Amino acid sequence: MSSRFSDAELLHYITTEETGVAEKLFAEARKVREEYYRTDVYFRGLIEFTNYCKNDCFYCGIRAGNQSIERYRLTLEQILNSCRVGDLLGYQTFVLQGGEDPYFTDERILEIVENIRKTYPDHAITLSIGERSRESYEAFFRAGANRYLLRHETANEEHYQKMHPRSMSLQNRKQCLYDLKDIGYQVGAGFMVGTPFQTQENLLEDLRFIEELQPHMVGIGPFIPQASTPFGSYPQGSFEQTLRMVALTRLLLPRALIPATTALGTISPEGRERGLMAGANVVMPNLSPKAVRKLYALYDNKICTGDEAAECRLCMEGRIRNFGFVPNMCRGDFKESRKINRKVEEVE
Ligand code: 5AD
Ligand code: FES
Repeated sequence: MSSRFSDAELLHYITTEETGVAEKLFAEARKVREEYYRTDVYFRGLIEFTNYCKNDCFYCGIRAGNQSIERYRLTLEQILNSCRVGDLLGYQTFVLQGGEDPYFTDERILEIVENIRKTYPDHAITLSIGERSRESYEAFFRAGANRYLLRHETANEEHYQKMHPRSMSLQNRKQCLYDLKDIGYQVGAGFMVGTPFQTQENLLEDLRFIEELQPHMVGIGPFIPQASTPFGSYPQGSFEQTLRMVALTRLLLPRALIPATTALGTISPEGRERGLMAGANVVMPNLSPKAVRKLYALYDNKICTGDEAAECRLCMEGRIRNFGFVPNMCRGDFKESRKINRKVEEVE
């Protein structure tokens, strides 16, 4: 497949420490983003509904082996209530995210999706609940789920093995992503920047995988150590490098929906805003009940855990406007069509 960049060019941008080069890259990424999405930033309401997880990823704070955290599950009523709050605040996308929690069988997930779909026929429902069978993904889709987030985490087999227990495989994860796409979901892949043992070549492979998969969404955040995990004493990922990966992703996938992640905002006070300046165009403020926010601790010092949903909505809106972007509460589906027609726009 032809690409905008050669391997050597990508590696140059992945590794460069020259701010001039990075700034040019960000400016180019903003230009490309604007051709499809203007300066709009789409809001997604995130509902973190369970922090139980059967997996043991070495980087993640809610891994099964972490016995020092309190676990929670939201009830159907609590989930629906979070949706209600979100809807009142204007959200048209609900993102249901959780660990791989065996309590949430296909039947229970279906019950949740069906209930949300019934109440909100026009909202987008996004699931982010890990690896399941193709049949399960198909059933969720039929029940009304439209989108699915499943970061691949790293596209390199060897690196994947160093971040996960033997029970997990990159091959299976990639298969899930291809299945999800094939079923008709808008699919989000993604990776962390600066995870232990990651090489610059691994990041190049992440970009090449993204080009091959052509996901509709790409979540990119820095690795942030969580003290009670095996990776608890490794350094966090580079903020600048994460921004460059966001920009490169925008240039390779001009129409992608790319969030300015909470992890970016956690390692730098204006991290999310800088993510938008590097080509991102989505934010995902939290809609989970305040009481459980702190417990969804994928990594240490996560921001926004003490704020009400309404506060986050307002705060994020202000932050976005401060940087010259325009909050957009619409569903913000992937644009299948071509660039915005500037002539039409002018007479609107
Ligand atoms: N640092 C940064 N991101 C993390 N995630 C999990 N653990 C960490 C961490 N320690 C990310 C993973 C996962 C997403 C929900 O959160 O990429 O897919
Ligand atoms: Fe949550 Fe600012 S976005 S407090």
